[in-house]
Amino acid sequence: MNSNVKLPVDIRIGVIGGGQLGKMLIEASRPWNIQYSVLENDLNCPAAALANHVILGGLKDAESIQKLAAECDVLTYEIEHINSRVLMELEESGKTVIPSARTLQIIQDKGLQKHFYQKHAIPTADFVICDNPAGLAEAVKSFGGDKVVVKQRMGGYDGKGVDIVTKSDIQTGLFQSPGPCVVEYFHENITEYSVIVAADQFGNVVTYPLIEMYFNPQSNLVEFLFSPAETTPDLEAECRNVAMHAVRELKSPGLFAVELFVTQSAEVLVNEIAPRPHNSGHHTIEGSYTSQFEQLNRILLGLPLGNTEMIQPSAMINLVGGEGQTGAYKLKYAEKLLSEPGVYVHLYNKSEIRPQRKMGHITVMAETLQELLDKAGKIRDWAVFE
Ligand SMILES: Nc1ncnc2c1ncn2[C@@H]1O[C@H](COP(=O)(O)OP(=O)(O)O)[C@@H](O)[C@H]1O
Ligand SMILES: [Mg+2]
Repeated sequence: MNSNVKLPVDIRIGVIGGGQLGKMLIEASRPWNIQYSVLENDLNCPAAALANHVILGGLKDAESIQKLAAECDVLTYEIEHINSRVLMELEESGKTVIPSARTLQIIQDKGLQKHFYQKHAIPTADFVICDNPAGLAEAVKSFGGDKVVVKQRMGGYDGKGVDIVTKSDIQTGLFQSPGPCVVEYFHENITEYSVIVAADQFGNVVTYPLIEMYFNPQSNLVEFLFSPAETTPDLEAECRNVAMHAVRELKSPGLFAVELFVTQSAEVLVNEIAPRPHNSGHHTIEGSYTSQFEQLNRILLGLPLGNTEMIQPSAMINLVGGEGQTGAYKLKYAEKLLSEPGVYVHLYNKSEIRPQRKMGHITVMAETLQELLDKAGKIRDWAVFE
């Protein structure tokens, strides 16, 4: 421990991006009365109502980021698709950027990310980088199995930019990549987990308990995430160690989500790292002694890391716009949700609903894991809008 603890702290935090992650970051700082400036290109963004100052500007616009930096002591970001070059320059001129601009550059490019894993012996799915999409048919020849995963190097999110395709569709030209991509071995029947990892400014690194994704066996869509995972202590320890190793190698403070696959042969692989609070860590707001958002605030402010243990087993259900839903919206089962003990509704303050748009989430808590899974299974049917 090296932190020079002071509260209240006279530090102003600048956040690039004013979405729900920024909103929840500010919410978590309320007990400490921290000042925030937010950069976003929409004055009605989720974080706007909470921020002390909103700078209207593009997230890739160098001037807007410089303006934000000029009025803040420390900068962070809640989205990866921003201008990392200007962050690098700001760092060179002495500004604190957390996570570091170099970390962001690695993460922005799935190709660099894969090289990083390889270089540091971090287990990951086998891959080939294919910068010339015309060479894709040749590139897939080296892979076993019928299918491969094609990921665009830049700009993807929430599954956009990721295609699981048959090798024959690639070889017959039916599937074409729109740009430079990473081709990965397709692992069948994986279990997907995530580990939230917190690294402070003094070299201390801690992990949260393993988070598991529950997929609907029929639709194969993620229905909820829960923690602790339904697994063995050995596998949990291995996942946390792999995630901790990956974050240590980034050599940057920050709050990270490490997405993991466990294959049928029980191999733990790193899929990708998000350099920010993550959807898979939202249950920590109520479920953990220190939420992922409070933890990031501690890191940004140079305070000691908080305890990552869980208070109770918890699950998180996303509230997303349904098929054909647009415009104004209301939760359909608000009364039911609000009368359940251990159920917490979060709405992100988005002005309009759209199909698939993340509008909020629900945390569910229970005394035992079995009770939690039963309860989350019931509550997910109420997670709809009208
Ligand atoms: N190599 C792989 N084998 C099997 N499934 C994969 C593989 N890579 C990705 N997937 C599936 O695709 C999803 C999205 O891929 P990911 O790389 O996490 O992209 P995104 O940045 O959109 O989250 C993963 O959560 C997983 O379900
Ligand atoms: Mg992902």
